[in-house]
Amino acid sequence: MSGLRGQTVAGVLMGAGRLAWRTTPNGRPRGVFCGIGVCHDCLLTVNGLADVRACQRQAADGDVISTKDPA
Ligand code: FES
Repeated sequence: MSGLRGQTVAGVLMGAGRLAWRTTPNGRPRGVFCGIGVCHDCLLTVNGLADVRACQRQAADGDVISTKDPA
């Protein structure tokens, strides 16, 4: 995926049409909710570092993004 310089990981994902990237234990989709780093709904793994808030992490060239359970 590509994005604009300075975009967050969440911004890049949403810009590509991906609105959810994990699920709750009961299967509900989650992506960005608050967008300000409070709710932790947007957690994913960036370059092997787990539980990164996508709305707070600036995307960088070559970032490897993954989730535990793709929504
Ligand atoms: S959307 Fe709430 S912490 Fe990222």
